[in-house]
Amino acid sequence: MRLVKVLTILFFIIFAFVHATTTDAKHYIVYMGEHSHPNSESVVRANHEILASITRSFVRAQQLAIHHYNKSFRGFSAMLTPEQAQQLEDLVVSVFQSKMNKLHTTHSWEFLRIDSAQQYNQMPMESTSNIIVGVIDIEFTLYISRIWPESKSFNDKGQGPVPKKFKGECVTGEHFRLANCNRKIIGDRFYSKGFEAESRPLESFNLPFFRSVRDGDGHGTYTASTIVGSIVANVSLFGMARGTARGGAPSVRLAIYKACWFDMCSEIDILSVLDNAISDGVDILSISIGPDPPQPSYFENAISIGAFHAFQRGILVSASAGNLAFPGTATNVAPWILIVVASSVDREFHSIVYLGNSKVLKGFSLNPIKMETYYGLIGGCAAAALGITTKNGSFCKNNTLDQTLVKGKIVAGAVRLILIDPSIKDVGFQFVIPNTLISQEEAKELQACMISENSIGKISPTITVLNIKLAPEVVVFSSIGPNIITTDIIKPDITGPGLNILAAWSPVATTTTTERSVDYNIISGTSMSCPHVSAVSAIVKSDPNGTPTTPFDYGSEHISPTGVLNPGLVYDFNSHDIINFLCSTGASPAQLKNLTRELVHCKNPLTPSYNLNYPSIGVANMNRSLSLYRTVTYYGKDPTVYVASIDYPTGVEVKVTPAKLKFTKVREKMSFRVDFIPFKNSNGSFVFGSLTWSNGIHRVRSPIGLNVVSM
Ligand SMILES: *[C@@H]1O[C@H](CO)[C@@H](O)[C@H](O)[C@H]1NC(C)=O
Ligand SMILES: *[C@@H]1O[C@H](CO)[C@@H](O)[C@H](O)[C@H]1NC(C)=O
Ligand SMILES: *[C@@H]1O[C@H](CO)[C@@H](O)[C@H](O)[C@H]1NC(C)=O
Ligand SMILES: *[C@@H]1O[C@H](CO)[C@@H](O)[C@H](O)[C@H]1NC(C)=O
Ligand SMILES: *[C@@H]1O[C@H](CO)[C@@H](O)[C@H](O)[C@H]1NC(C)=O
Ligand SMILES: *[C@@H]1O[C@H](CO)[C@@H](O)[C@H](O)[C@H]1NC(C)=O
Ligand SMILES: *[C@@H]1O[C@H](CO)[C@@H](O)[C@H](O)[C@H]1NC(C)=O
Repeated sequence: MRLVKVLTILFFIIFAFVHATTTDAKHYIVYMGEHSHPNSESVVRANHEILASITRSFVRAQQLAIHHYNKSFRGFSAMLTPEQAQQLEDLVVSVFQSKMNKLHTTHSWEFLRIDSAQQYNQMPMESTSNIIVGVIDIEFTLYISRIWPESKSFNDKGQGPVPKKFKGECVTGEHFRLANCNRKIIGDRFYSKGFEAESRPLESFNLPFFRSVRDGDGHGTYTASTIVGSIVANVSLFGMARGTARGGAPSVRLAIYKACWFDMCSEIDILSVLDNAISDGVDILSISIGPDPPQPSYFENAISIGAFHAFQRGILVSASAGNLAFPGTATNVAPWILIVVASSVDREFHSIVYLGNSKVLKGFSLNPIKMETYYGLIGGCAAAALGITTKNGSFCKNNTLDQTLVKGKIVAGAVRLILIDPSIKDVGFQFVIPNTLISQEEAKELQACMISENSIGKISPTITVLNIKLAPEVVVFSSIGPNIITTDIIKPDITGPGLNILAAWSPVATTTTTERSVDYNIISGTSMSCPHVSAVSAIVKSDPNGTPTTPFDYGSEHISPTGVLNPGLVYDFNSHDIINFLCSTGASPAQLKNLTRELVHCKNPLTPSYNLNYPSIGVANMNRSLSLYRTVTYYGKDPTVYVASIDYPTGVEVKVTPAKLKFTKVREKMSFRVDFIPFKNSNGSFVFGSLTWSNGIHRVRSPIGLNVVSM
């Protein structure tokens, strides 16, 4: 009896040991907040010590720790069992398992659009600026190609010397030499340790990449040139969107941080980027990456944590909201991050479908190819392969269609439609062009046509149409609110053009360009392949036609580059306000102390999160009447009076006191109170309105979002 028990325990121990070292250990991030260590060595030693308190061996701790955050904040990553992680949790601010984040590809945010030169020409454009933008994404290219040497988009003509405050480096690597940095691209770093620890070595993917910041997939070149690209005349993608390409701010400097490989980014690496970029001295961080929804809580997510430290140092962090379209999918929702959703521009790419019955359908696509003759039409649902449901066939995914049925035909998908001509032999049809995307109404016409036998059609090459009146509109694929962590903070914050934007591209990145090498590419949701369309179909289904856009879709405003320079009034908040905010969301004083290295007293009573001085106004659970407060700072020279006007949310009376704000000097602050008196339950959803302060010249608008749960 006794022996059996001993044996069992022994077995259990052996089993537990084997288990721990092989299967159960996962890559965790252990985050400890600000540090007061004199140097990185001291941080690393302290990290090993805290880990050794769990492993009971310093040497073991050294083995388990993989990466150290030892500059702008303190932390490390290590292979740990869930039990070890739990034990550490009591000692530090947070412990969380590293996740892969995704590049917000295809429809990345375009904070500063490139083709609105006229608008940007109103901005003071000094030839040199000491503003440094850290672009995290990130890959980019200095590839010298046949037509548009990259020196054109990233040349440093007219730039002054590298700003002294920049403490970063030009890290060399595969096909990236010291000479590739210049006065525009002033520094770069790349990270793959976390990625390779969590997945496998980069080489094993059998995909093109460079072990350096050089761009293998085009995305980094695209985002970087969109921000700071030099002016390059007469560029296009196969003649489409022809015009002058320019970044929104050609005079600023760029520091490039590459943390993503094959569209995936390990949080271990993302946190390293932020640790370094902050200490490198960047002014703005641009992040086109996000976690998969649901967004993890603020201190269990690398971007939120890193951005918090950036915010504390006055660095603006703007990030993309994501491309998932469904309510609550917006990511990077911390109030210290400005998140951006995509909107359309005043340009469309039309590709017309001519049907055999002489009907003409308006479609959208990037389709440079001219079809010489009419082809037969078949619906994807009618062409489903053996064993595939008609519904699945209608999405035109790989291997769902009967090859013999679709051969030589234009195939139409179901809900929204893509038309494909598989006449290019031996190419998987999702890569094949011509194609076009048509609306549901047009689809009815098409169906009517296809009922008849031997229906035929022809797709025209793309015509670029300018001055579309309705722009900007929020693009249907953009991720939207509400903010699932703190519903009182309305997210996303702002919209920026993100549909069909032309920008520099890596000539070696050909997966989205049908294997053709291009120097400029147009990317967005108007996709060129069936898999994209299936996603759009799902979105269309979930988004009833005619739903008005709410602030959760478009944030506070559409971005106005001229407005940003001369805002009139500003809603300001600093890290003390953020600490109060975090108190209200339940962070413990001990956690907060370690976060900031300052003694933190949460105010009693707590400041409700709807009183954070955010530029939008949100109350997620409104019971009866409620008053909240905001403070504005005046940015203008002469005395002026701002008057409040209200766009009332349905069922709620709104009163602003005082209703007039008299300012006499610049940076003067004034507070006001907003009283909400609901007279109708909003039945579980938000009602929207807005508050606008105007002095006759400036209009400063705050969206209001209220969920009235009881009266
Ligand atoms: C600080 O962390 C980085 C990243 O893990 C590491 O390369 C460096 O060696 C660390 N510094 C020290 C002094 O250990
Ligand atoms: C705060 O940091 C100190 C020293 O690094 C540590 O002893 C303490 O346990 C930490 N507390 C929390 C809640 O993170
Ligand atoms: C722009 O480039 C195209 C060829 O890509 C050329 O035919 C055209 O003349 C150029 N236009 C100008 C204004 O240089
Ligand atoms: C149809 O597609 C769904 C989702 O991709 C898949 O789960 C299902 O197995 C498919 N069914 C058939 C019969 O193809
Ligand atoms: C499509 O299917 C074929 C055959 O199953 C495969 O070789 C090819 O890689 C697939 N393409 C994509 C994009 O999944
Ligand atoms: C409304 O009441 C609910 C339930 O008592 C409470 O959780 C919520 O915080 C209240 N809302 C506000 C804005 O006070
Ligand atoms: C309230 O919401 C429920 C469920 O969403 C719905 O069935 C009901 O019709 C709504 N009532 C009103 C008055 O809008």
